[in-house]
Order: sequence, then structure tokens, then C-alpha cells
Amino acid sequence: MSLEFSNAEEAKDYAEYTLGVDDDAVKRLVLQSGITREMMKVLLPEKVIAHLRAISAKGERPRITDIGTGPGNWLFDVRAQLKEEGINAILDGYDLYPAMFPPEEKSKLEDISFSELNIHTKEAFVPLEKYDLVHIRYLSAAIGPEQWDGAFDNCMSILKPGGIFMWEELLLEKMSLNDPVKWSNVLAVFKLNWSILRRNDVDPKLSSLFSTKLEEMTKEEFTTQSLPEKGQRMQAANMSMATKELVDRAIEHGEAVVKHLGLESAEQLQGMLKLAQQDFKEGCVLHMPVNRWTGVKPLVIAAGRDPGDTSGDPENVQTGWAEAFRKWLC
Ligand SMILES: C[S@@+](CC[C@H](N)C(=O)[O-])C[C@H]1O[C@@H](n2cnc3c(N)ncnc32)[C@H](O)[C@@H]1O
Repeated sequence: MSLEFSNAEEAKDYAEYTLGVDDDAVKRLVLQSGITREMMKVLLPEKVIAHLRAISAKGERPRITDIGTGPGNWLFDVRAQLKEEGINAILDGYDLYPAMFPPEEKSKLEDISFSELNIHTKEAFVPLEKYDLVHIRYLSAAIGPEQWDGAFDNCMSILKPGGIFMWEELLLEKMSLNDPVKWSNVLAVFKLNWSILRRNDVDPKLSSLFSTKLEEMTKEEFTTQSLPEKGQRMQAANMSMATKELVDRAIEHGEAVVKHLGLESAEQLQGMLKLAQQDFKEGCVLHMPVNRWTGVKPLVIAAGRDPGDTSGDPENVQTGWAEAFRKWLC
């Protein structure tokens, strides 16, 4: 994705991750985790539980990791579900920003460990032990169009043969407003040139990776549209907070980013944010479609095939989120 900034270093840094990593971001992730729980109903599907139970039956502790874990909400929920199932697993969370991790006493209490890791750094995966279940949720904002294959292979490298890979992702390109005519302020913010968001069409990309590198792939589809009224209000608050994170990060990175969005000044962007937040307060809901991909790592990799070699995989059309959103707006 080309970025036309006067200060290329600044732009690169900003493009790394466009959401917040402070206390407010943690609060939003707690809210978003609750919404996701409501929407998906089942955290670890029966197939995953059966796999973990079979490992326990051999007298071993199943090993589970969550990459891009943030405050570790998914892992805490997993611990609760596994307690009910009588499964005593090892739980490890990884994230590039340790500031997001929960307080030590909380992680100790549930016996969950947290460590720093960049999903894009291949070498960082080498010393890690292998896992029976690798999980990722909502990480696409941190993955550029050219980085999917590498990130995916890094995760595959720490998955045991026969282990399960589960990836839950928001499809930003398919998000929808409950009333696009009425909520023009939210629409205006999302009509800005947010092409710096490092996304492409998540659905074809992950479907292709799961179907070419794993077996028994399943794809489940969820949406916040199915939630009852209280869930819809939570989703409105979630998106209002996420919009603020996006705007704050843009302003933090200065004039070049504000100009890239197509605006004259940071004040103009702040003004638009205020109006959008008002829309969210008054009933606007920006709905999140979410997919969950699950697959099993083959016990034997086909002869002559390097699992890291993606050269033979089908090419995907990478339209970019802004482009998709623009199409949706017309
Ligand atoms: C939207 S949050 C999702 C957090 C968590 N998975 C959840 O569902 O609540 C994205 C997370 O990815 C982390 N992150 C961003 N870039 C990363 C990278 N390159 N490697 C690992 N984690 C990263 C962020 O710090 C943040 O915690």
C-alpha cells in the first residue's frame, strides 16, 4: 500500500498498528470481548474440547496460546470453560505491546503467562515450545496486505502436527450501519481516506490460507446484528470508542496523517469525531461481521512441499478496506 507522507518514517510507524494500546484501549477490548462472547455463544467448540480432552487422557497438559492477546480476555474465558470441563491446560498469551497485559496478580491467580512477541518476527517463534491449539482474534489491523503469509506461517511453526489453529476476525470491509442515511456523521468519518489501515479482504485471504495449509477447515459466520438490544448498544459504544482510538492515533502522528485522510487540520478531525460520537449515542450501530476459521495441522506435510512456501497458493484479490468501503457507500 503506498503512503504519500512527507515524513516516511512517521508514516511507517503509524501504519504498524492504528488502534490504541493504552488503558482506554484495554477497556474497549473488555467490552468487545463481552460482545463477542454474546455473539458466538461457544468459546471453544466441541471439536477443540475433544482434542484437548484426548491429550489430558494421555496424562499430558494441553498447551494453548493466544497471539495478539492484549489484556488476555480470551485466555481468561478459556480458563473458565476448561475448569468446567476438568481440563488443566497450559495457557500462554503473546502481544507486541506488554502495556496491554493484565496485572500480574490476576494472571498468576489463573496461571496464565504473558510474554512479548511480534507476530511478524520469524526468529522470535523459533525458541517457543509447540502448542496443541493456536488462537488469534481481531489482529487484522496489525497485518499488512503483504504480511499475511509470513504471519500465518510463523503461527503454524509453533503448532504441533494434529494441533488446531483457530482464527476469529472482524470483516471490516463488510461492516454495515443500521441507517446510513440518518447517521451521516459516522459515515463522514468512515468516508475519509483511511487507506492507511493495513487491511485487505480478510475473508478470501484467511479462507485461502486455512484451506491450503490445514485440513478439516471450517468457517463459521457471526454478526452483531443478531444481538438483542442491550448487545446492540454495547456494539455502538464499542465502535464509538474504536473511532476515537483511530482519530486519536491519527492526530498523535501529526499533520501528514491528517492530510492523508483528506482534511485540513486536526481540529477538523476532532470536530467530525464529536459528531460521530453523538450519532453513536443517539442510536447509530456499526455492525461487525466476524468469521471463525478452524483447521487441523496435517500430521505429515506432502513430500517436497515446504509449509512456508506459499508460491503455489491461489492469488487473492486484495482490494483494500477503504476501496471496499467506498464501493459499499456508492
Ligand atoms: C484489536 S486487539 C485484540 C486483542 C485480543 N485478541 C482480543 O480479542 O481482545 C489487537 C491486539 O494486537 C496486538 N498487536 C498489534 N500488533 C501486533 C503484532 N505485530 N504482533 C503481536 N500483537 C500485535 C495489539 O497490541 C492488541 O492487543
